[in-house]
Amino acid sequence: MRVLVTGGAGFIGANFVQYVLAQRPDWEILNLDALTYAGNLENLAALDAEPRYRFVHGDVCDRALLDQLLPGVDAVVHFAAESHVDRSILDATAFIRTNVQGTQTLLDAARQAQTPRFLFVSTDEVYGALGAQGRFTESSPLAPNSPYAASKAAADMLVRAAFHTHRQPVLTTRASNNYGAYQFPEKFIPLVITHALAGEPIPVYGEGKNVRNWIHAQDHCAGILAALERGMPGEVYNLGGDDELDNLSLVRRLLQLTGASESLIRFVPDRPGHDFRYSLDSTRARRELGWRPHVAFDDGLGRTVSWYRQHPDWVAHIRDGSFRQYYQSQYATRLAQARTAQ
Ligand code: NAD
Ligand code: TYD
Repeated sequence: MRVLVTGGAGFIGANFVQYVLAQRPDWEILNLDALTYAGNLENLAALDAEPRYRFVHGDVCDRALLDQLLPGVDAVVHFAAESHVDRSILDATAFIRTNVQGTQTLLDAARQAQTPRFLFVSTDEVYGALGAQGRFTESSPLAPNSPYAASKAAADMLVRAAFHTHRQPVLTTRASNNYGAYQFPEKFIPLVITHALAGEPIPVYGEGKNVRNWIHAQDHCAGILAALERGMPGEVYNLGGDDELDNLSLVRRLLQLTGASESLIRFVPDRPGHDFRYSLDSTRARRELGWRPHVAFDDGLGRTVSWYRQHPDWVAHIRDGSFRQYYQSQYATRLAQARTAQ
């Protein structure tokens, strides 16, 4: 099996590449990644001497490159994306290019190359937001609220259209919020951990009452592999974790795990259009793929904190680069208006 992974130098992609090479000893992986701010070859340094792995520096919008790479590929797993809601609020341009145009370009190239399987890694954010009750199933209407979510929903619909129009053998997975090793520290869990370890203020949007449904990246990767091997073409599979938590309770758990003080918490002005709650019903994936999440939340959080503790250089390289500028533009005004915890 020869698999083209896109976005394999990012957080979930890097976990997936390593997971698949370990789980499937006769599979080969070609990793196509543009190395944007979120792509980091340090995430895959352990594979430098691995003969079943090859990295290609390139863009999913580059049709000529895709036409060269796809012949002989048995499956595409498409992670490459702009992935952060807050950045999409600052400027959505790159989200439309990579997430929408890039997905269609990859679909077209895979159809021409007659690639036998194409899995699109989508997100629960395409469904929009929930109140305190209920869960999203695969037949819930798509109602994305942020530019990020809208660009993923557009791509998700293009994948659906490729099946209905061209009978292209595509599948879609929609996962809930991931956490684990290699996550870029703009996202909430690694942002809280790195700030707690450095004794820096922790920005909590609004009152910290928004709820997320967390899944460990390893469980997400296992779900993607199960869908790739056993999923039905044209189908969508929700991959949700078992754990739902409001943001403030999550911060408190992470502060306990890092040994940092609650005095670091700052309540800052809310994200515009902040989705209140996500929750996924993954009954279909459990029943039809035989998948379920295995990592217990406390154990997963503990392991994630340890990973960030043990990789200060990885964190320092990111925090020394363009991230510093992004952090200023996203948080300087907010932190100036912050309230501390009572
Ligand atoms: P990430 O931002 O950490 O990584 C994205 C990767 O894509 C990077 O390596 C980047 O260099 C690469 N990339 C970006 N634009 C590219 C382009 N034009 N061509 C080639 N490569 C490009 O993202 P992540 O958190 O690992 O998410 C991966 C996928 O999973 C995304 O599609 C995201 O929408 C989806 N997803 C993420 C979560 C989550 O909680 N992080 C949840 C559900 C779904
Ligand atoms: P995030 O990791 O950006 O994922 P998403 O918005 O895609 O679910 O944020 C997770 C939750 O944490 C979300 O409710 C927003 C909140 N949040 C903060 O309170 N402060 C922050 O600095 C960030 C980045 C997120």
